[in-house]
Amino acid sequence: MIAAGTARGEALAALRRAFAEAGLDEPALDARILLTEAAGLSQHDLLARPEAPLSAQAATRLSGFAARRLAREPVWRILGQAEFWGLPFRLSAETLVPRPDTETLVETALALAPRPDPAILDLGTGTGCVLIALLHERPNARGVGIDRAEGACRTARDNARANGVGARAAFLAGDWAAALSPGARFDLVVSNPPYIPRGDIAGLAEEVRAHDPARALDGGADGLDAYRAILARGGDLLAADGVLALEVGAEQADAVARIGERQGLVPARIAHDLAGVARVVTFTAESAA
Ligand SMILES: C[S@@+](CC[C@H](N)C(=O)[O-])C[C@H]1O[C@@H](n2cnc3c(N)ncnc32)[C@H](O)[C@@H]1O
Repeated sequence: MIAAGTARGEALAALRRAFAEAGLDEPALDARILLTEAAGLSQHDLLARPEAPLSAQAATRLSGFAARRLAREPVWRILGQAEFWGLPFRLSAETLVPRPDTETLVETALALAPRPDPAILDLGTGTGCVLIALLHERPNARGVGIDRAEGACRTARDNARANGVGARAAFLAGDWAAALSPGARFDLVVSNPPYIPRGDIAGLAEEVRAHDPARALDGGADGLDAYRAILARGGDLLAADGVLALEVGAEQADAVARIGERQGLVPARIAHDLAGVARVVTFTAESAA
């Protein structure tokens, strides 16, 4: 699709056009990211010398990237890595691409942590992005990330090492908190569990439906299965002054707060994301009320 020797600027314009014609949401951004990655350029290189020709290797790589994007593979999957909380996270087939909305979970957990060096539990850790961001911000904290998918745990372990927090993070494969020793208690329990109602999955954008793992999306018939499972044990996992923070889907906050209340937890705060959507529900243990 892109021939060797094509000027960088021309290749960029050709990609942008092809992506726009295919109806992609952000054709210009996607084109720029894929071109700089394929040719090993910075944004500055691209702007400074748009007339420079692409090497044969860069053109072949770029053509491959473009074909994948036109087949609706997300840019971050093509690159194999995404940014979250300003940190790089490697992706694998068993991990969700971290979403900007989830930074609200990190911000809320940081604001509510009962001590500067909290013991943290991250349920459904995926790439490890939430736990790793928290450990990055709290250099004396330690944490455990759990995921049902062993491949996600391996990726999260690599990400923790690459982001300099590997010595303070452990990753376990298991069903929510079942893999923990009885009596384990945490100052912060965080989770961004799967919360899409099963019947809505077929209607998601192909980038999500076909490329994010089903296990990371499927929240059961009403989207709330994971909250029921996590909150059933939530109180047992919290230290006396501990805080449990859960990311929720749009319009799920009240239902999740009620599930927690029925389990004897005390709803503490609902935090909103940048779009104003109620995105994080927090609880304390009843004994802390
Ligand atoms: C929405 S993704 C969130 C991943 C990551 N924390 C993030 O915010 O990008 C939910 C994660 O929960 C994991 N998961 C689903 N069911 C689980 C279960 N029963 N026990 C543990 N993890 C589970 C999935 O494999 C997936 O990695």
